[in-house]
Amino acid sequence: MWHDGREVAVKVQYPGAGEALTSDLKQIGRAARLFAGWIPGLDIKPLVAELQARVAEELDYSLEAAAQSRFAMAFEGDPDIVVPAVVAHTDTVLVSQWLESDRSLARLIADGTQEDRNHYGEVYVRFLFSGPARAGLLHADPHPGNFRILPDGRVGVVDYGAVARLPEGLPSIIGTLMTYAVADDYERVVAGLREQGFIKDSIDVSADELRDYLSPFIEPAMHERFQFSRGWMRTQFARINDPREPGYTTMLKVNLPPEFLLIHRVWLGGIGVLSQLGADAPFAAILEESLPGFASPS
Ligand SMILES: Nc1ncnc2c1ncn2[C@@H]1O[C@H](COP(=O)(O)OP(=O)(O)O)[C@@H](O)[C@H]1O
Ligand SMILES: [Mg+2]
Repeated sequence: MWHDGREVAVKVQYPGAGEALTSDLKQIGRAARLFAGWIPGLDIKPLVAELQARVAEELDYSLEAAAQSRFAMAFEGDPDIVVPAVVAHTDTVLVSQWLESDRSLARLIADGTQEDRNHYGEVYVRFLFSGPARAGLLHADPHPGNFRILPDGRVGVVDYGAVARLPEGLPSIIGTLMTYAVADDYERVVAGLREQGFIKDSIDVSADELRDYLSPFIEPAMHERFQFSRGWMRTQFARINDPREPGYTTMLKVNLPPEFLLIHRVWLGGIGVLSQLGADAPFAAILEESLPGFASPS
């Protein structure tokens, strides 16, 4: 579509989105009450409240426009990333600069070359993880369709409906605890997780249990490069979703404090997309750049 001689993208909220969302949110609340009974480590109420608040925000395109503008300013002139400018907006309509592109990361997952998979996988996670330090915001919708490859090779990032406000950047506790984990000091990992509310007072979990559960997730941060793959990701999910595996029991003991909900989503999404891409990435170096408190092992 064209606007004032410029090609633009127009995002319009469908009528009834509000009512549909209200019923979705009630559904989430009901499902959560069912869950809470059998996950002993999880404090479900504040988590659901956070989820409902963040989801409701996605209805307000003025908030989305503000977030998109913040990102556009922070990434202005970036060699790898383009954030479309906001041209105009109301609460239900958002008009953005058009990004010419014939493929997204989703296409790359289907038929990209290995070189493109490595390069764009790296640009993608660097963008996600550096948002808080550069824009004070975390882009929290890591879906590969939101990342479009432009003809000049840069990546155009759209969809700022879900963001976490992190004016101080990513919490340094993540980097600090990952550094302990990389150094195999799981006593301090347990202590730190308790302090942050990831392990509730009533829950008993040993350093060894936590090592068994967490260390495979930490592996990508332990080497100079890591080869992500679908096989690796499948193994990780099997480990924590199979009630016969010890990882499953430990998983049920770990809480997710509400302020980490979107960070957790981006982390899993980011790793998931790297795995789908089969990207070989300097993951430790990327974390060292973006995670305050993280010191890579090499
Ligand atoms: N500025 C843009 N230029 C070109 N295409 C865009 C632009 N913004 C969005 N799109 C396309 O429209 C799709 C949906 O937009 P998005 O903001 O992600 O909406 P939703 O919140 O429904 O996912 C995107 O995945 C992308 O393919
Ligand atoms: Mg989208």
